Amino acid sequence: GKGQHRHFMLKEIFEQPEVIGGTLKTMLNPAERTITLPYLPFDLAGIGRVRIIACGTSYYAAMVAKYWIEQLARVPVEVDIASEFRYRSPPLEQGGLAIFISQSGETADTLAALRHCRANGQHCLALVNVPESTIAREADGVLETLAGPEIGVASTKAFTTQLTVLACLAVALGRARGALDRAAEAEVCRALAEVPSRVADVLRDDSAIRAIAPSIAEARDVLYLGRGTGYPIALEGALKLKEVSYIHAEAYAAGELKHGPIALIDDSVPVIVICPSDHLYDKTASNVQEVVARGGRVIFLSDRHGIARLSAKVAATIELPEVASFVAPLLYAIPVQMLAYHVAVAKGTDVDQPRNLAKSVTVE
Ligand code: M6R
Repeated sequence: GKGQHRHFMLKEIFEQPEVIGGTLKTMLNPAERTITLPYLPFDLAGIGRVRIIACGTSYYAAMVAKYWIEQLARVPVEVDIASEFRYRSPPLEQGGLAIFISQSGETADTLAALRHCRANGQHCLALVNVPESTIAREADGVLETLAGPEIGVASTKAFTTQLTVLACLAVALGRARGALDRAAEAEVCRALAEVPSRVADVLRDDSAIRAIAPSIAEARDVLYLGRGTGYPIALEGALKLKEVSYIHAEAYAAGELKHGPIALIDDSVPVIVICPSDHLYDKTASNVQEVVARGGRVIFLSDRHGIARLSAKVAATIELPEVASFVAPLLYAIPVQMLAYHVAVAKGTDVDQPRNLAKSVTVE
């Protein structure tokens, strides 16, 4: 049941410290600061190309993984929406690694993409939350998210546990490929080990998010901006808001702003900005300045340093713990989920069973 929580979505959001921790435990040795993946029926050292295929929220996890794997393993990664991939028939080189991310393991398009890749000489790795699912059964290897059953139609804990596994995979591939040394592995492991407690910190004080929810609930359109791994988190935030509150939301890579979306900005459009203190901070902060200068109402998500350094006059700030930039997407996923949830509650929508949506999309 939902326990003390009003909705499954909220319960599942609050389970994240525990399920991220449980998923990490299967791969991370915190004392040695090393990652060991479960057995895979192929050698990661021989993988020179990665393709990741998924739908919806699982696709946004794939996008984060592209940044991570390219950074740590220096292996080129291509990400695809399953429904696009399967009808495009892209040329596939023998022996490539194809990863299929699916909470349910039953998504029709992702399954069709897996079958196409298997028939075309790819090592197929499933990343699923349901180990007895069709996608898990048909893949060559399986990595499991230990999110537990996800009931809310809006995916929350499945997403952050997918990210957890993908971060470990990026480290393992980096080590196998010789792109990541022991010291660098230890550093990432230390950052990962901290994630469950930092996520718990975010959940402990959600007052800033609750405070802005009523004003977002009145908006007709909401924009989300981010750079680097903050970009897929912006996309995920916009999807969550659309799904549960029915408010039109769009996400853009912050650098794309002046290539079009800035025309949408006026004082009626809240702009949620994902902006941790990292090497991209200044770039995103200058986009914030541009939005504010056009009357945009910015809600700025950053850490203490990032908020202190910001000169633009924003409508609200949401402070997150300071963490290594590699793990930031795991943390910034939480406030965007919470915001969507509280906005939906303010609007009185059916949070766990939004209109027109099914938990798993087993037909095209
Ligand atoms: O079970 P899957 O991960 O394959 O599902 C993919 C999408 O249908 C799913 O993530 C969907 O976008 C969610 N409703 C997002 O909250």
